[in-house]
Amino acid sequence: MKFDSPATTNPIDQLKVVGKPIDRIDGRYKATGTATYAYEWREATLAPAYGYPVAAGIAKGLIRSMDLHEAKAAPGVLAIVTAENAGELGKGEKNVAKLLGGPQIDHYHQAIAVVVAETFEQARAAAALIRVDYEAVEGSYDLAGMKDKVRGNPDAEVGDFAGAFPAAAVQFDQTYTTPDQSHAMMEPHASLAAWEGDELIVWTSNQMINWGQGDLAATLGIPQEKVHLVSPYIGGGFGGKLFLRADALLAALGARAARRPVKVALPRPLMINNGTHRPATIQRIRIGADADGRITAIGHESWSGNLKDGEPENATDQTRLLYAGANRMVATRLALLDLPEGNAMRAPGEAPGLMALEIAMDEMAEKLGMDPIDFRALNDTQVDPEKPDRPFSKRQLVECMRMGAERFGWNRRNANPGQVRDGRWLIGIGMAAGYRGAPVMTSAARVRLDSDGVVTVETDMTDIGTGSYTIIAQTAAEMMGVSLDKVAVRLGDSRFPVSAGSGGQWGANSATAGVYAACVKLREAIARKLGLNSDAVAFADGKIATGERTMPLASVAGGEGIVAEDAMEFGKFNESSVQATFAGHFIEVGVDALTAEVRIRRMLAVCAAGRILNPKTARSQVIGAMTMGVGAALMEELAVDKKRGFFVNHDLASYEVPVHADIPEQEVIFLDETDPLSSPMKAKGVGELGLCGVGAAIANAIYNATGVRVRDYPVTIDKMI
Ligand code: MOS
Repeated sequence: MKFDSPATTNPIDQLKVVGKPIDRIDGRYKATGTATYAYEWREATLAPAYGYPVAAGIAKGLIRSMDLHEAKAAPGVLAIVTAENAGELGKGEKNVAKLLGGPQIDHYHQAIAVVVAETFEQARAAAALIRVDYEAVEGSYDLAGMKDKVRGNPDAEVGDFAGAFPAAAVQFDQTYTTPDQSHAMMEPHASLAAWEGDELIVWTSNQMINWGQGDLAATLGIPQEKVHLVSPYIGGGFGGKLFLRADALLAALGARAARRPVKVALPRPLMINNGTHRPATIQRIRIGADADGRITAIGHESWSGNLKDGEPENATDQTRLLYAGANRMVATRLALLDLPEGNAMRAPGEAPGLMALEIAMDEMAEKLGMDPIDFRALNDTQVDPEKPDRPFSKRQLVECMRMGAERFGWNRRNANPGQVRDGRWLIGIGMAAGYRGAPVMTSAARVRLDSDGVVTVETDMTDIGTGSYTIIAQTAAEMMGVSLDKVAVRLGDSRFPVSAGSGGQWGANSATAGVYAACVKLREAIARKLGLNSDAVAFADGKIATGERTMPLASVAGGEGIVAEDAMEFGKFNESSVQATFAGHFIEVGVDALTAEVRIRRMLAVCAAGRILNPKTARSQVIGAMTMGVGAALMEELAVDKKRGFFVNHDLASYEVPVHADIPEQEVIFLDETDPLSSPMKAKGVGELGLCGVGAAIANAIYNATGVRVRDYPVTIDKMI
């Protein structure tokens, strides 16, 4: 089905099931330990052997030699695979560096071997016996030092920024920095691989089944249809599992060499340098305005680093669309660094971009003597500022900010910083706008009605803890007029139709739209079986009504059931309109007047993100993202060893993220919104929006509390005193 005219009234609009705060249907399995994660699969046992990865101890250079003798002779060892004996390996389309390095080393902790043994302990012990002789060469590891040696995307310029900025009545020019960050998901990268002849099955933990299947096949040099990926439960990804990673490849190679199913999990201390991370940025923002606060010029330049084939962090993306202004310029630069691979992490682009832009907006408002919300509202735009004939499909940013102000008690904020005290705590309130694009991706599904009246949905969509199972079940229930307990949802299997996958906050809207499309076909097939047109048949309460007759839905299924499959394809409205989600983030902090310790006191997010398919799972997404925003503002930072080229704090003890005690109160409000240009679901996504803007809102609250402006994240005590 092609989505090429605005969504009209359809069965989803009944909102009998969709839009309801249904508990996550996988929640029970996860809470009771019966959801099977990648490392826990037993189906292929066949007694799996264990693979333990060996990772490079240098950041750049060559392996001169590897001495495997002792390791091979160690107890229980079945095989050792290195680049030398792995056969010819390709590289997946989406991988920047090879997943099995050697002799060339591209980054620290790049995998260079997998040791397969009868037990995990034997594999680990043998791995420690491998002697590697390296020839290290100098690399570049310092973004600040490399900032001038760059390649970049073409700059986006509109009007005459260079002329308009210096001519502006009020000018603002500041530079902000954000650090390298880690996804730090709970479940590590893990895979169990088994070969059956020339066919490979891999139980893994991956957000994008079709990408992973294709890239694993390409890396192994085998046809894509020979690779079967299974990933029904995922313990978090945040972008770190968008792409094929070393665990899956090492398990496949280990299983081939040992002629046994092999399990590989990346040990936590390897995850951060072996996997991907969100690259650090340096961002210069210039804003020029007239004396009334109307922006006349806005410029945003961002520098980030990556490996040779990597991409820059698109931290300037939101600046092209968030505020009006006739003269504009963004520039996105990439410095070549030899650190591990930078790649997508929750809201890539906007998350770090807004950490800078939304402090700048706060600073500029103060310079203009304006309220920060009034300043933003004055510069709101309902059209793409670069292409004014392209409107936003729905844009309620001002409404988000106004409602947030009212609910949060913005009028109690003292605009003069450092004035409000509660005992030893300095109290501050801050806000920021939140923005994240709402992309869509083609998404297919198969639905089957069986003679017991159960509707089964199959799609390779994943649920990374987000609620995909639940909203897909709600969609099918609404479309087929059955209760939720009559819907079975099967996800995360490459044998199912190819979905949008979980990424870029496109999953919820795209994947449910794919299920919608398949259900439309199923309704047609059922009607056809009755010799009717599908609009002559009503689907409700587990029954179908054809005017004069009502019968149980199950009764038309027949012995073999009725199956329908379709994909939703998008395109048109993403070109003719800007589809995006908006938020107003509000924060109250206390800052200890003696120690500068920061405590979050209250958080509020008001979100406008199309129809909310399930307010409970959507809220969970937003509060999780808000928590991540606290981490970004106050704690998270990968410390770079600028001599040896790696992230020093590569475990969860030293890479700090917020815990429950850090987050006392969170509130989320969703504005009533449906977007007929987004999909027949009229929905968008919220999983990334919830993070976008939070960091800056916290930094702005800290400024309001203390009068200290920190422009270098994370905002830690040493930067405030
Ligand atoms: Mo998201 S960073 O596209 O998983």
